[in-house]
Amino acid sequence: MLNSDPTDINGLLARLQTMLGPTGFLSGADTAGYTEDWRRLYQGVTKAVLRPANTADLAEVVRLCAAAGAKLIPQGGNTGMVGAAAPAADGSELVLSLGRLNHIRDIDAADMTMTVEAGVTLKAAQDAAEAAGCLLPLSISSEGTAQIGGVLSTNAGGNNTVRYGNARDLVLGLEVVLADGQVWNGLRRLRKDNTGYCLRQLFVGAEGTLGVITAAVLKLVPRPREIEVAFCAVASPAAALEVFGHLQARDPAAIQAFEYMSGAGMALVLKNIPDTALPLAIPAAHYVLIELATPRQNAGLRDLLEEVLAPAMEEEKVLDAVIATSEAQRRAIWKLREEHSEAQKREGASVKNDVSVPVSAVPTFLAQASAACTALIPGIRVVPFGHLGDGNIHFNLEQPIDMDGAAFLARDHEIMDTVNEVVRSLDGSFSAEHGVGRLKPYMMPQWRGGAELDIMQRIKQALDPLGMLSPGRVLP
Ligand code: MLT
Ligand code: ZN
Repeated sequence: MLNSDPTDINGLLARLQTMLGPTGFLSGADTAGYTEDWRRLYQGVTKAVLRPANTADLAEVVRLCAAAGAKLIPQGGNTGMVGAAAPAADGSELVLSLGRLNHIRDIDAADMTMTVEAGVTLKAAQDAAEAAGCLLPLSISSEGTAQIGGVLSTNAGGNNTVRYGNARDLVLGLEVVLADGQVWNGLRRLRKDNTGYCLRQLFVGAEGTLGVITAAVLKLVPRPREIEVAFCAVASPAAALEVFGHLQARDPAAIQAFEYMSGAGMALVLKNIPDTALPLAIPAAHYVLIELATPRQNAGLRDLLEEVLAPAMEEEKVLDAVIATSEAQRRAIWKLREEHSEAQKREGASVKNDVSVPVSAVPTFLAQASAACTALIPGIRVVPFGHLGDGNIHFNLEQPIDMDGAAFLARDHEIMDTVNEVVRSLDGSFSAEHGVGRLKPYMMPQWRGGAELDIMQRIKQALDPLGMLSPGRVLP
């Protein structure tokens, strides 16, 4: 909460306004657009959105806010799924927007690294890497809006995790503003550096609760020269995993994405997203999108795909398949996958479960969780999709057609707990890539209680003793 003495807060705001100027300090109606999360689960209010343009100014903002007892919510592109970046409804939190720290400081194609500020969108960073002849191998559906700081703070996963790991696997160095306004410059670009605790990994995935990431050194990889994208209707999730296994046995390093979609999700995309079409003759209950890529030339990836898909079609594990023959077709196929979230949002209220289980357990998970949810709310629409190659399924549930959206959302804990029971029985996690945010801290004692939560609370206490950064996020 802000200091009880309102004159302190008014004094703080006046000082910040003078320091940041009209572009860097927004208040009143200008804060709209920063106060609601992407899913529209949280409608917040804030006295000001602070938009410093560089690390030194941001550090001064944090220092002044700490001195005045103000709470800060760091915010990037605000595309998160668990409400971490939206301010509280009681107006007690100031938004710290990273959007003006938007410079690419350096790209080194020899070292295969880029140094990029927190407010650069993931797409802009990818484009810059590409222009330098490299690939920044992180890809998420919201990459046009999501910013590097948020992507790292949430340890985003996405479509290429199966090959390159999560965001944390791509970070060599970080610059972070601490809760007392100190700047930690850890922008090293070393591949090996064993010098004490690995601090950068503490801030990655901390969702802004331990410090504010202002810049990062990211690993790049060679740009692919050969890419093949296939879209397949499969008989079942188990059949999809068989195909995955065959590809892994032949060329694991070529599998850049292995994504699952259900017939229910595909129907919503085709219904709610313009300019989409199923590239197969007949709709199915299950689909996979396979992307193979390699920097090698003439690597024969298309032959590989055909060698794996042809026998699977004979055995009726794969019911139908198309391999893209042009960049336009590849994009059209990816659009079917990437618009799943938007299609669900347009359809109505949905409860998201971003869960992971061992890859081999995905078919069991899908069957058991679907049955449990249908028993809980007859008519509930089960719309699972996601990163099958990582065992990460977005087990999303859409309101029954004839149910009121608000009444459905009021049951979100009940629904999430039902799904999580299945996840737990399969040794999975309740949050694979979206994080904990404001939506899921209540799950932490049950899932991460005991020594694990105790360590997390001690770290929080050590780095943010006033509890001024992203309060109520991650930790219960
Ligand atoms: C995606 O993979 O498209 C998003 O992480 C998923 C979601 O909206 O649940
Ligand atoms: Zn995802």
